[in-house]
Amino acid sequence: MKKKKKIIISNRLPIQIERKKEKLIIKPSAGGLATGLNSAFETDAILWVGWPGIVPKDEEEQEKIIELLKPMNLLPVFLSKDEIRNFYEGYSNEVLWPICHYQPSYIHFDPEYWSTYVAVNKKFCEAALSIDQLSDFIWVQDYQLMLLPQLLRSENQELNVGYFHHIPFPSEELFMNIPQRKELVEGLLGADLIGFHTFADSQNFLNACKKILHVSSGHNQLKYKDRHIFIESFPMGIDFQKFVEVSTEPKVQAVATQFRSHFPDQKIIISVDRLDYSKGILERLRAYLTFLQKYPEWHAKVVLYMLIVPSRDKVSQYKKLKDEINRTVSEINSIYGNLSWTPVLYFYKSLPFEELVALYVASDICMITSTRDGMNLVSKEYIASKTLSKGVLILSEFAGASKELVDGLIINPFNRMETADSIYMALTMAPEEIQERADSNMQIIKKFNVQHWVQLFTNRLAETKAIQRDEW
Ligand code: UDP
Ligand code: G6P
Repeated sequence: MKKKKKIIISNRLPIQIERKKEKLIIKPSAGGLATGLNSAFETDAILWVGWPGIVPKDEEEQEKIIELLKPMNLLPVFLSKDEIRNFYEGYSNEVLWPICHYQPSYIHFDPEYWSTYVAVNKKFCEAALSIDQLSDFIWVQDYQLMLLPQLLRSENQELNVGYFHHIPFPSEELFMNIPQRKELVEGLLGADLIGFHTFADSQNFLNACKKILHVSSGHNQLKYKDRHIFIESFPMGIDFQKFVEVSTEPKVQAVATQFRSHFPDQKIIISVDRLDYSKGILERLRAYLTFLQKYPEWHAKVVLYMLIVPSRDKVSQYKKLKDEINRTVSEINSIYGNLSWTPVLYFYKSLPFEELVALYVASDICMITSTRDGMNLVSKEYIASKTLSKGVLILSEFAGASKELVDGLIINPFNRMETADSIYMALTMAPEEIQERADSNMQIIKKFNVQHWVQLFTNRLAETKAIQRDEW
């Protein structure tokens, strides 16, 4: 008998489809969920259900996309333009994202958002239930699908449903502001196991449940409607081996050397993020400006190379941020730049994987200044890519990764002077200290890689079912 595949469901598939001159093109998706999870599974062992990022122009094109994705074990869920506006840009990214990233003033709410969020979660549920020989192992990913665990549960009590929240879960005080807070936590409690990147996030969620549903709980579980539900932390890792292998390839080393040769007299600081206010891009630029003011001896001896991947560009806060980044970059370059030195180089694009790794390899410092971040995989990818040449990681205390990568230079990105000083410390750090800090961070990333993360979560999910059965 054919083995049933495990089911993963996320809003975004690990690939997205674009139409170029009437041809359909497959591209990798950006974002930690897609990049991380994609390399953890043998594609034949899973079926991944999600949105392919395109609105088909007619039924024929829709069928074509379904056929194109079938051999890759991907099952597309199509969203209409209205659903994209109200579910994806609206409720997911103008309500849940800002609340979870502690930016309540960025919330924009429209009554259509909630009804569409409910409808699209139901659509994903129907897609999952339509699968032939549905496996009883279903792993739902992230905040766009918070109602899905309960929708699945109400169809079939026997399913083994896991949920992972890839972004921070805010303090209960903040979460209480959401009008649909009860529906959201009840939606998640349809799962048997609910995972977060950090212990603090898992406790915030438990506190929200206690306050909203008046249930009592242990430190990692609660009982609701006669079911035991487990709430635990699983810090996500990266595909360590892949980064080690690619970063040591002669071809990638050559690209890195060539890139470096453009900056013969300079240290290279890099940053890599999606364009998002949670990444602290403006805070980083302002700290860099303060650094240039405070340490004039470093003028012309350093460049900040920012790779910013386009993201959610129809959402107004993201548009505003893009304008403000342009303004701030140009301000810094006008104040300090000259014909032979541009202090900030800024690229609004995504890079092919090998080039991204070459960028990590070539740089001296990587700066992560998130004002809130579930994990931040870039920080881990940076460390893993520095096998032959070491680099310094400056890492925000508000990124989940800071709980593991404690040998980075941990900073508060809201403290401009401290962040500026950390750039100076990184630039002047002794090679032995750079090596020691990098080695110690590397050990952690090597051990707690993404394969380990998947195994831990999936084993624990299977266990929860056994514990629930024993109770009867
Ligand atoms: N990334 C990418 N293309 C690029 C630059 C980055 O796919 O041009 C990837 C990067 O390798 C990382 C992910 O985007 O795996 C970003 O994940 P992270 O956890 O740092 O932040 P998120 O975008 O999920 O908030
Ligand atoms: C973060 C979220 C993911 C999301 C990704 C990219 O990593 O946790 O759920 O897929 O950002 O964002 P997008 O809106 O393009 O899917």
